[in-house]
Amino acid sequence: MGKLTIFDHPLIQHKLTCLRDENTDVKIFRECVDELSSLMAYEITRDVPVAEKRVRTPLGREVVGRYIDGLTLGVVPILRAGLGMIHGILQIVPMAPVGHIGIYRDPETLQPHDYYCKLPKDSDQRTLIVVDPMLATGGSAVAAIDFIKKRGAKRIKFNCILAAPEGLAALEHAHPDVDIYCAALDEKLNDHGYILPGLGDAGDRLFGTK
Ligand code: PRP
Ligand code: URA
Repeated sequence: MGKLTIFDHPLIQHKLTCLRDENTDVKIFRECVDELSSLMAYEITRDVPVAEKRVRTPLGREVVGRYIDGLTLGVVPILRAGLGMIHGILQIVPMAPVGHIGIYRDPETLQPHDYYCKLPKDSDQRTLIVVDPMLATGGSAVAAIDFIKKRGAKRIKFNCILAAPEGLAALEHAHPDVDIYCAALDEKLNDHGYILPGLGDAGDRLFGTK
């Protein structure tokens, strides 16, 4: 079974509180998603494989240091709200290529519909971090990871900001090999599939489309 990590670091929780606040405007919301994504990426990449590299310091000494090979990681945002997390993650791992998966949730049926997929080259050799701020019913995350696995990916992590118990159970059931990382596990879904207490519609709040 993949592991679940809920980040309780005060900086992460502080930014999450800003996101939950209905008075947070689009600019601050976007900045908080950005910063929160960087902080989470720092922890998520803790077990990334490292190679050795011999370098010479300005003092003429040689050191064998550790470095992250360019082939190690990839990041895959689920469009559209996942895009809001990309800049913050790339602040931490600028060498990671970014794939995209287009999925939207039908507001009536809550079923996911896919419309786009472009993954990094050599995805089968990378750890792919699939990102989406919200894990609600889990339909979008499960469909995205199905998609990616069909295209050869073998090592996948899923990173959201908020998870609902329903989505967590669905994702763990469908993809027990995937580690899940979030800033909070909320109470439940409402009748429209929104996370409670939640933070509202992440895509609308990020892109000002409400
Ligand atoms: C939201 C969110 C997730 C999905 C979560 O996207 O960003 O992708 O809903 O819900 P689920 O777990 O029940 O599938 P939405 O479909 O609203 O599309 P958007 O990102 O384009 O706003
Ligand atoms: N998508 C969102 O943006 N918010 C929710 O609470 C659930 C799905």
